[in-house]
Amino acid sequence: MKVLLGVCGGIAAYKAGELTRELRRRGATVQVIMTAGAEHFVTPLTFAALSSNQVMTSLWQPVNSDVASGEPGAFDIEHIRVAQDADVLVLAPATANFIARLAHGFADDLLSAICLAAKIPIVVAPAMNVNMWLHPATQANIETLRQRGVQIVGPGSGDLACGMVGDGRLAEPTEIADHVLAAAQRTSDMANETILITAGGTREPIDAVRFIGNRSSGKMGFALAEAAMARGAKVILIHAATTAAPPAGCEHIHVTTAAQMERAVLEQLPRASMVIMAAAVSDYQVVSPHAQKLKKTTALTLELTQTPDILRQAAQQRRAGTLMVGFAAETEHPVEEGRRKLREKGIDVIVANDVSQPGQGFDSDQNAGTIISAHDERMLPLSSKRVMAESIMDYLRTTSLRLNPR
Ligand code: C5P
Repeated sequence: MKVLLGVCGGIAAYKAGELTRELRRRGATVQVIMTAGAEHFVTPLTFAALSSNQVMTSLWQPVNSDVASGEPGAFDIEHIRVAQDADVLVLAPATANFIARLAHGFADDLLSAICLAAKIPIVVAPAMNVNMWLHPATQANIETLRQRGVQIVGPGSGDLACGMVGDGRLAEPTEIADHVLAAAQRTSDMANETILITAGGTREPIDAVRFIGNRSSGKMGFALAEAAMARGAKVILIHAATTAAPPAGCEHIHVTTAAQMERAVLEQLPRASMVIMAAAVSDYQVVSPHAQKLKKTTALTLELTQTPDILRQAAQQRRAGTLMVGFAAETEHPVEEGRRKLREKGIDVIVANDVSQPGQGFDSDQNAGTIISAHDERMLPLSSKRVMAESIMDYLRTTSLRLNPR
């Protein structure tokens, strides 16, 4: 396993030496990147000796000698290559300044550029004076990072180098190493899964220009697709109308109506080891949509019929071992409704959420809910859809292992 260890300029920088040793003891190779501030506290030579590796300190390193060979492809953009090659990135100690720069997407030194280019999990272990840690700006920046899926370890409480007592001590190297290893593990723990995910809202035509639709943005389904891909899964994403941009890196199938979504889901079903229906599928469709735009009249009556229940059908037609997951967006009694739908649709897991609550669910960046299966129920607290997607994936992985022990 390859770990990138970013060391920032704080007095706790010397403890990153112990973390380097701990990570190596556990079998990792460690590439240390130091900020200019860190070099005031510890020398690159210390980390070179402890990691048995060159330490990287500058965005402006000399061009590698292979380029002189004229070989095509010999030129590497160092910070991009480093970000792509590793399994996990840990910042220890992370200073208030670096946390602020990370939260705002700065890329004006090597470590911040690597953080921005990295698609791997990031673990942040803050260390600073208690007042700097408790400052609303730092707390807001930490919350921004957390909502993006960055893992925060510590800080611990105790005597600080500044003479004060309180929160701000770097977490113990063994605790940081535990988190780093667990985060790296998650990058491939779904490598055997092919996950079919639906997202967005279907549109049922009324006439040539009008439709019955809903407020789904597609954000929950897209967050699930991103979380699944980050854990090594192959993702087939079937999306209807969305307001958010779909993630890259997966197979995309565009549909408009419930009937098209039904066809696409049933066609792809044999390939899937897991199906997650996060789409808001219209419950009704117009019996005979008009080919031309309807003229305005004082009253209009539409005849509607029910759309097929895609999830129920897919659950009936699935091959043994395929995990079926639904969503239940409710405005009343979400958990009771979730339990009923779990039974009636014959599925394994349902995520019930209350869409009457402001700031969560439809069209929001945040969500909360309850994950329900025949075995247990678990609260998913209000968080970004990406963080919630990660918790759902944790749950589904263990449920999938129970169904298909490997
Ligand atoms: O029955 P209800 O629409 O409340 O169930 C919600 C769940 O069922 C969601 O996972 C949704 O994607 C799925 N669904 C479906 N086909 C429908 C309606 C909903 O698969 N026609």
